[in-house]
Amino acid sequence: MSVDAWKNEGILIVFEGIDGTGKSSHAKRLASYFSSLGREVVLSHEPTNGPWGRKLRESAATVRLDAEQELEYFLRDRQEHVEQLIRPSLAEGKVVILDRYYFSTMAYQGLRGFDPADIRARNEAFAPVPDLLIVLDLDVDIALQRIAGRGDQANLFEKRDALERIRETFLGLRDEPFVRIIDASQTMDDIAAQIVDCFDSSK
Ligand code: TYD
Repeated sequence: MSVDAWKNEGILIVFEGIDGTGKSSHAKRLASYFSSLGREVVLSHEPTNGPWGRKLRESAATVRLDAEQELEYFLRDRQEHVEQLIRPSLAEGKVVILDRYYFSTMAYQGLRGFDPADIRARNEAFAPVPDLLIVLDLDVDIALQRIAGRGDQANLFEKRDALERIRETFLGLRDEPFVRIIDASQTMDDIAAQIVDCFDSSK
């Protein structure tokens, strides 16, 4: 698939993947690439730094919200994000690059008992489908080594099983026309080259 980077129209690009795959680094790099083409870029992430996103981060650091409430907060956070930033920026012809979006809700809240297909439908009722979803895919053991290398502590046994299931949910999107799965075990430069390749309109 390819997305035409040259038309001065809004483009929505999303990065997803388990922790440790390099989403935020590649989102930044892609933002610089589009800026160098003279495009106006908005780089953002979910959960956001808005009120719902802050509540979600607080709960992750203290006592986790119950599953219903957590899903509700992620949806509210995204509704604000879509209304206040994503839709207006796309309407102004900007390139919007997101580090996580509703596919994370499918994967992570899917683990808490919700049906990923229902979560997707609830999101797509208000949130625009991306022009391109880049899934950075990595073996869970390598991702865990990278997370440990950052100094983050986790209950590795529990976390491993969860990450496997989250990875599978992302990989399950592979047949969607707007999805590109990229092997995140490659070098940063190789990954970045493959990402930029998605915007070659000759392909
Ligand atoms: P992330 O931005 O990756 O964390 P950090 O900024 O600490 O690196 O995302 C925070 C966590 O939120 C991550 O573990 C995934 C989770 N998450 C969900 O459970 N559902 C969602 O809809 C989103 C967007 C994130």
